[in-house]
Amino acid sequence: MIQKINTHSVENILKLLDNEWLGDWQRSAVEHLLSNPKTIIQMPRQTGKTYSVALVASAYILAGGSVIVGMPTLGQSKGILFRQIAGMVEKLRGYIGSYMKPFIDTTTEKLYHNGAQLRAISVDNSAQKEGWSADLLIIDEAHRSERTILGITEPYLTQAKLKGTAKIILLGVGGHVRSLIEEMKQDTLTGYVPFRVTPDEIIADVPAYESVFEDFKRSLIPVDYEQHILCLPVGAGTRYLFPDIQIATDIDPNARAVYYIGIDVGEKNDETVVSVLRRAGEYIDLVDVYKTRGDFIDKDGGQAARIAEFIKKYPVRHQYITIETNFNSMLFQSLCTSHFRGMNGIHLTYPNKKALSDYMMTIVKKNKFRVSDSQYKRDLESLVFNIKVNGNWEWSHSDLYSSILMAISAMQEPIYF
Ligand SMILES: Nc1ncnc2c1ncn2[C@@H]1O[C@H](COP(=O)(O)OP(=O)(O)OP(=O)(O)O)[C@@H](O)[C@H]1O
Ligand SMILES: [Mg+2]
Repeated sequence: MIQKINTHSVENILKLLDNEWLGDWQRSAVEHLLSNPKTIIQMPRQTGKTYSVALVASAYILAGGSVIVGMPTLGQSKGILFRQIAGMVEKLRGYIGSYMKPFIDTTTEKLYHNGAQLRAISVDNSAQKEGWSADLLIIDEAHRSERTILGITEPYLTQAKLKGTAKIILLGVGGHVRSLIEEMKQDTLTGYVPFRVTPDEIIADVPAYESVFEDFKRSLIPVDYEQHILCLPVGAGTRYLFPDIQIATDIDPNARAVYYIGIDVGEKNDETVVSVLRRAGEYIDLVDVYKTRGDFIDKDGGQAARIAEFIKKYPVRHQYITIETNFNSMLFQSLCTSHFRGMNGIHLTYPNKKALSDYMMTIVKKNKFRVSDSQYKRDLESLVFNIKVNGNWEWSHSDLYSSILMAISAMQEPIYF
């Protein structure tokens, strides 16, 4: 049986690492999770969740206990928390002695000479391992996990449960109602005791955090602020965007965004073209196009207002709107400040234009790009390519074509810039 870990032992580790609590809330979170066998910790982004549990996990390991870190994919579980815990133990070895050097040392498994064990498990390497057991199970980013991960990881706590030493910690921000973090909160029979900290509580403790949260407020759209900073369930955010629909019945909880908007900004005499793409399984449809002409300088916001009116026919999250900012960033500013906070501007330089175009050509060739309107079809078929001496492409294409590239960029997949 591992010795009792208390806040004092965790605090000693913090001191050995030459750090202090970020504020009272961090110490309270640790106290809370040490005094309950199953806890859910919800604190705003960057306020020390992962660090706190890494301290607790290190205390377990120094005491000869065993820790399992569970996440949806192995890249995540070993990447963040596993490495942080292993790194902390490694630092502490300087104070505590060489017996804390691991004798099995892989990217998912560390076995220490004092009997302690640290392992990462994910849904994608979930085959049951003989002889593995743990006292502490941590699932970080539990708003992005589903219940399955508990089914895979919790069996390793069976022995510890019989001894009465098992502990499970779920960490994260607000999640979808079907996420692990929200399901466990609603399902009171499972015995999880939640702990939530709000920005106001943090500011009351450390006033300097006020500007941190103000920055988050500026850079996040309201629903994302509610989820990541206020740690509210995501369903509440969806209701905020679409007050008229019944969340439970009208929206598939796991659905991806369906509509993506691209805006090619007209220079001088060109048209500004807005295209709407819809993702339908493996197909991408061009479902609608809107053009505004002439008034390329959006001084009075009139062009932005007309575009906004058009876009609002579609249920689209702001981050899935991409606008070209090469010439007229005024239209971007105007749309961004008065209509769609959080939309993306893109400067369409040659390399990313080519990457987007390559992707579009691929889906066109595979017949996965569907255009039902014959006028738009002709418009797209008028594309002319020319390869220049320096190897670059030269296009002669329509504004519609560029706006589609912009919408493809809004999909952010599979191209990253
Ligand atoms: N007590 C502390 N002393 C020194 N540094 C700390 C402390 N707590 C956290 N940090 C550092 O602050 C940063 C944010 O902490 P951490 O990653 O634990 O936050 P988080 O709440 O898990 O954030 P996110 O929600 O984005 O994952 C990290 O760089 C971490 O190392
Ligand atoms: Mg974290």
